[in-house]
Amino acid sequence: MYYITTAIDYTNGPPHIGHAYEKVLADVLARWHRMLGEEVYFLTGVDQHGQKVQQTAEKKGISPQQHVDEITKLFIALWERLGLSYDGWAATTDPRHKACVQKILTNLKDQGQLYKKSYKGFYSVRQEQFLTDKERNEEGVFGEEWGEVVELEEENWYFRLADQAAWMKNFIEQSNAFVTPSFRKAELLHAVERAFEGDLCISRPKDRLSWGIELPFDTDFVTYVWFDALINYISFAGYLAEPESGLPDFEKLWPAQCEIIGKDILVPAHGVYWPAMLHAMGFKDEEMPGLLVHGWWNINGEKMSKSIGNVVDPNALVDAFGAEAVRYYLVRDITTGKDANFDADRLVMLYNTELANDLGNLCNRSINMTRRYCDSVLPATDFDDEASQALRAGMATTIKQFSALMNDNMVSDALAVLNNQISACNAYIEQQQPWQLAKDEAQASKLHTVLRHLLECCAQTGYLIKCVLPEASDRILNQLEAGGLMENVTPQTLEWGILPDNHTIGEPAPVFPRILSEEEKEKLAAKAAKGSKK
Ligand code: ME8
Ligand code: MG
Repeated sequence: MYYITTAIDYTNGPPHIGHAYEKVLADVLARWHRMLGEEVYFLTGVDQHGQKVQQTAEKKGISPQQHVDEITKLFIALWERLGLSYDGWAATTDPRHKACVQKILTNLKDQGQLYKKSYKGFYSVRQEQFLTDKERNEEGVFGEEWGEVVELEEENWYFRLADQAAWMKNFIEQSNAFVTPSFRKAELLHAVERAFEGDLCISRPKDRLSWGIELPFDTDFVTYVWFDALINYISFAGYLAEPESGLPDFEKLWPAQCEIIGKDILVPAHGVYWPAMLHAMGFKDEEMPGLLVHGWWNINGEKMSKSIGNVVDPNALVDAFGAEAVRYYLVRDITTGKDANFDADRLVMLYNTELANDLGNLCNRSINMTRRYCDSVLPATDFDDEASQALRAGMATTIKQFSALMNDNMVSDALAVLNNQISACNAYIEQQQPWQLAKDEAQASKLHTVLRHLLECCAQTGYLIKCVLPEASDRILNQLEAGGLMENVTPQTLEWGILPDNHTIGEPAPVFPRILSEEEKEKLAAKAAKGSKK
């Protein structure tokens, strides 16, 4: 079972492109593993508790539940528009999640892993955390980034995080599967030293934060952020669930092979707290999840943030360019693990060149020429030449490289490999000039070989791109009448000869209509107006 999950998104505000990227990446990988023939469970969802939610709801004059319900709807609607194929939905106000969190807390308390103590210190209301001297700036004060800072003394519950330090260091050092890309492992090892300086505060008194999951053994408190949010990965996988819960079978799902998170929540949350929590619950080394840590989309080189007002609205992008262009851009213009700069002009450029011009035109020209020169039928042919051999070999290499990169979660690089093959096909058309071959009866078998090579590459590339663009893939395969022929194919078995002798293809239709600039649209409108006057 391939269990893939993502971070759950905070519902204090609407989704932005960072959220959309992570979920599209997860969807592409989930679809890829389904193509490989694996049983896949894809979980995503929303993180609905916390102080910010409570504060935003208060400002809006509605209940926190009303507020998170409204925002959650925005996430669900966007995921629908982007075609996400998730199997499970993790919403932290779900009573099944609350029950699981409470069972875990009770167990840990019974085992002596939780204790209560009093703490006095400076507290940032905005960041919902106590501050230490490390957070003071050069002038010795807490900077503006912390917002209002107040002195607080309060009792809270703590998790014996420090008890896990020795195990953790050893685990992270010896495991190569826990964090990818591998450069994050060094970063994590570095951070581990600092992370165990104290225990982890896991509660908030209800008079300060009521919007959370109540501690079952001390009902004046709710559990705080991570003991709620992180547990979603197991609660919604069926951990400690009632048989009639409708949740999956935990034994079948766990451990998650791929928990996709952004780099900001690796240290300390997912890299330190999460394995420490699991280990304290009794999970063994081989039962730890695998973390896939992605980078950030920045805007004009700056970190995206609501206060700077540079948060790109994914719905506006879908309105303007369509869901496929957005899906493609979000996994194409970023290397998994690294940061990238979001640029709507590049979105249009990459869609128009790589999809509309290169793949779209390849399919359209190949299908059109086959209709014109061969009545849409692919005759048997025994002509072969070096260029055709090279194209076949290139396709075989493309399948191997594409698969290896996808298995490594390197979606952009995989697409680059696919695009190289598509360019090779377009170069092959220019070189072979089927329109010249069609003029000469004696060249018929060469013409048929050329067309078959092109259509076969359209079918194979159209199939491989399915994980990124499922609808476009269907359009391509349907025009080739190849949907049925692909039914039992997997990337492991995909090989030359999908389209049989005398196969009849269907009607051509543009697969990727160009995204027009405002200028182009105006020109077209003017032309149409002229035409209608005549
Ligand atoms: O952190 N580019 O929620 P969140 C890429 N609820 N990814 C980005 C991004 C950007 N500009 N901005 C955010 C939370 N993300 C917690 C997670 S998990 C148990 C709880 C990513 O809404 C971010 O890295 O702030 C994270 O993985 C996800 O979006 C949700 O961020
Ligand atoms: Mg965040």
